[in-house]
Amino acid sequence: MSLCQYSILCALLFVGTFGHGDEELFLPLKTLQRIQHNHNDPSCSSQKSRSENGAIILEMKHKDYCFRSRSGGLNKRRQKILLADDIRVRSIQSHIKNISSQQVEDTQIPINSGVSLQTLNYIVTVTLGGRNMTVIVDTGSDLTWVQCQPCRLCYNQPEPLFNPSISPSFQSVACNSSACQSVESATGNSGLCGTNSQACNYLVSYGDGSYTKGELGQDHLVLGRTSVDNFVFGCGRNNIGLFGLASGLMGLGRSDLSLISQTSDAFGGVFSYCLPSTDAESSGSLVFGADASVFKNSTPITYTKMVQNPQFFSFYFLNITGMTIGGVGVQDSSFGKSGFLIDSGTVITRVPPSIYKAVKAEFLKQFSGYPSAPGYSILDTCFNLSTYEEVNIPTIKIYFEGGAEMEVDVAGVFYFVKSDASQVCLALAGLQYEDAIGIIGNFQQRNTRVIYDTKQSQVGFAKETCSFM
Ligand SMILES: *[C@@H]1O[C@H](CO)[C@@H](O)[C@H](O)[C@H]1NC(C)=O
Ligand SMILES: *[C@@H]1O[C@H](CO)[C@@H](O)[C@H](O)[C@H]1NC(C)=O
Ligand SMILES: *[C@@H]1O[C@H](CO)[C@@H](O)[C@H](O)[C@H]1NC(C)=O
Ligand SMILES: *[C@@H]1O[C@H](CO)[C@@H](O)[C@H](O)[C@H]1NC(C)=O
Ligand SMILES: *[C@@H]1O[C@H](CO)[C@@H](O)[C@H](O)[C@H]1NC(C)=O
Repeated sequence: MSLCQYSILCALLFVGTFGHGDEELFLPLKTLQRIQHNHNDPSCSSQKSRSENGAIILEMKHKDYCFRSRSGGLNKRRQKILLADDIRVRSIQSHIKNISSQQVEDTQIPINSGVSLQTLNYIVTVTLGGRNMTVIVDTGSDLTWVQCQPCRLCYNQPEPLFNPSISPSFQSVACNSSACQSVESATGNSGLCGTNSQACNYLVSYGDGSYTKGELGQDHLVLGRTSVDNFVFGCGRNNIGLFGLASGLMGLGRSDLSLISQTSDAFGGVFSYCLPSTDAESSGSLVFGADASVFKNSTPITYTKMVQNPQFFSFYFLNITGMTIGGVGVQDSSFGKSGFLIDSGTVITRVPPSIYKAVKAEFLKQFSGYPSAPGYSILDTCFNLSTYEEVNIPTIKIYFEGGAEMEVDVAGVFYFVKSDASQVCLALAGLQYEDAIGIIGNFQQRNTRVIYDTKQSQVGFAKETCSFM
């Protein structure tokens, strides 16, 4: 079967094969618009899965593909996304700030990601207690949860609610169990014993006022064909927030309760993803297991070690040592100083103000001659490209300690505020403070294989055109 039965893949292949100079990507603008704006009406019952060489591969979709927002136009929706993105970032920053100012003894409580879930936009389908559950993927938090019956307050979801009473394998988690004690490090709130039961109650509150509240349970989790017994998750009976229409959330952080910790016997503590764009036809994959032969990467994987920081052990921190724009190094003394976290939930990459200033100046120098357009929300490097058939976009590369590098895919450089290309913005933003923590957002991670190896404490990058096949 030819890959070119899908026009988007063809376009990307075209870019990859013919349009890729060393330092520039040549991209017909029409293609770029399609990558970002083609929302067909999908029937999105369940994402697929398969296993290969012992690895489990789950199909991953952008949430917009499945759960289209019914309210507001495209522009409204986009504005909301950036607003929510900013709230997430501020919340992450304030958690980190608060935690750094405390004694290490008190800091067993990590950040529970401060997520604003509107921005957590990648979903997979897993089977829990025999039921398919389509959940949001989050590397910035730990506890996996689903909406649960009987529910006091549940938002709308298309899949049936998880019902513990009809799953013969469901067990509640006792209050005196070690799993219940792990709740504190996973959620930042200690597990509370129910007043008239031995149940272990949990609460995860997210930075924007979203939260999930309920009790811990255990059940069979099936990922592809691998079954995990006694998987501990949150049975959410009070769930409020911008969780889209997903049935819950998969926590892929680093603490004991996270899915990757609980499945480490089966998968060795290694997972990876390739995040597709929002295009209706594009799928990515979430892979559990270390076998790199299942990846479709087109460049070798390069690794960088995770920056160890006991205060934020749930997040994945990396050391960025430099960036290039069109092959020209961006000079700034902030590189290599503080860690950057890599997050599947934040959309737009944030860098300290001095780095942003330098990146912007170099980008404007190279992407010159194009008319500028007003800034939009957190984005302030914008262009009016409505009259261009084709633009040459400078390549953006990020370098990490140990020589690893990540080239930002062409689908991750520009954020289309207006679909007619009259307002197209560089999808990078500056942080408020020089000492704030930088974040590598999911927009820039598109079409990249990102490998999280929690056992060897390293993160790997390679170029890959995301697909599920
Ligand atoms: C569950 O999902 C799988 C694919 O992941 C699909 O084949 C199966 O039909 C789904 N089952 C139900 C009951 O929807
Ligand atoms: C951080 O600490 C300040 C002052 O102690 C407090 O007002 C604020 O709510 C805290 N932020 C978070 C996210 O906990
Ligand atoms: C937890 O409490 C139950 C009784 O309430 C007891 O049977 C069990 O041994 C306790 N487990 C632990 C690990 O202490
Ligand atoms: C990041 O890497 C550079 C180069 O190896 C090193 O000098 C610096 O100390 C590292 N920074 C952190 C925070 O680990
Ligand atoms: C973009 O440029 C076109 C052509 O010059 C112009 O007609 C249009 O008004 C501009 N749009 C914006 C939003 O600036």
